[in-house]
Amino acid sequence: MPDNVDLPAVNAWTQFGRLLKVVVGRADPTSCHLPVEPACQSEINDPYLAEQIPWPGGQVKHRKSTKLAEAQLQNFCHILESETVQVKSVREAAECGRLVEKRRTEALRSNTKENDARVFQKGRTRTLRTKSMDWSKPVAGPEWSSPSQYCATCPRDTMITLGNTILEATMSKRSRYFEHLACREICLDLWRQDPLRIKFWSAPKPSMSDEMYNPGFWAKTDEERFQSMRSYEFCVNEKEPIFDAADITRVGKDIFVQKSMTTNDSGIMWLKSHFPELRVHALHFPYDLYPSHIDCTFVPLRPPGKDREDGLVLINPERPPLRAELELWSQNGWKMLNAPMPATLDRPAFSQSSYWLSMNLLSLSPSTLVIEEAELPLYNLLSENGFDVITVPMRGMYEFGGAIHCCTWDLQRDDACTDYFP
Ligand code: NVA
Repeated sequence: MPDNVDLPAVNAWTQFGRLLKVVVGRADPTSCHLPVEPACQSEINDPYLAEQIPWPGGQVKHRKSTKLAEAQLQNFCHILESETVQVKSVREAAECGRLVEKRRTEALRSNTKENDARVFQKGRTRTLRTKSMDWSKPVAGPEWSSPSQYCATCPRDTMITLGNTILEATMSKRSRYFEHLACREICLDLWRQDPLRIKFWSAPKPSMSDEMYNPGFWAKTDEERFQSMRSYEFCVNEKEPIFDAADITRVGKDIFVQKSMTTNDSGIMWLKSHFPELRVHALHFPYDLYPSHIDCTFVPLRPPGKDREDGLVLINPERPPLRAELELWSQNGWKMLNAPMPATLDRPAFSQSSYWLSMNLLSLSPSTLVIEEAELPLYNLLSENGFDVITVPMRGMYEFGGAIHCCTWDLQRDDACTDYFP
């Protein structure tokens, strides 16, 4: 495929245009557990361990965890940078036993459909890394303090490319207030390459004061939350515009933003008022009682084809979108594809993400996707729908807030401000 030489160095209008340049996060040795704060009440998700110790906070003590995550991120970079990859069969991936516990390996074996390893021409994606920082130091603003930061494994949460604009999100957690600085040098370097075509903006940084949060949110039981689920009131209130970049998904001229614990209506309005060239739509997922980041919930995979092939969005069967908000999609030739249940429901004890990291995939083009190597049910579904699927190990990242999509921030795709919803 010839490169589009006219593309600005920053150019990404969709989730699925051919990926030319990407940032991959870094699991620094100083990476921390998320501190408890008004926007976040972390919990150990292993009930036996939770009985024995409180939420640890502070620097992740097990060096093995950061080493494994960083090794998997480096391996992923290597695959992205390669012109060709040898795609392991899912059977081989499961049997290599690097990451999967015995029980899960056995389950995969019993379900495995043969698919032979093969060499696949994917084209090179230039890969940059976030800067290494000391995340263990306390940080503060005039009205708040945090005993540590978090980490920069997930640049997707803090940064987004909207067309030719680099945008730093406001963020919603105090511990993540300065996280964008791990990407600052990359931003400045790109902007300086082409300052008349590339915009570099930071959304207004919130005060992070107590008044920004709903104090009663964490005291509600799941039952109470379920009763009030259509009110879409989460831990941040509307006092200041708030959004995490990972609540946004791009489809050309239209972007879709999830109202969540990390994005409020004011944040969505801020995006509308600052990107008049885009159509900004809110999306709501009423059955997700703790929504945060759209990329385990609603993942556009490919647009409708010229020969009337349907566009496809991978959706989370436990978090169906509002029916009324799907009309725009169905009227424009898009179909919703229910993701299969993940290969395992187990998560590392300190992971604060759901088992739906299984669907946290990265598109390299409208026909090529990268998924976690153990996700055989997803592999089969996507293959049946005509995608080339590359598998990589990424479960080491689950403790650090994300997986394959979260750990990336796409800078340049071969795409344009196409109207997919005319
Ligand atoms: N908070 C969401 C997305 C994480 C990347 C989840 O846990 O499913």
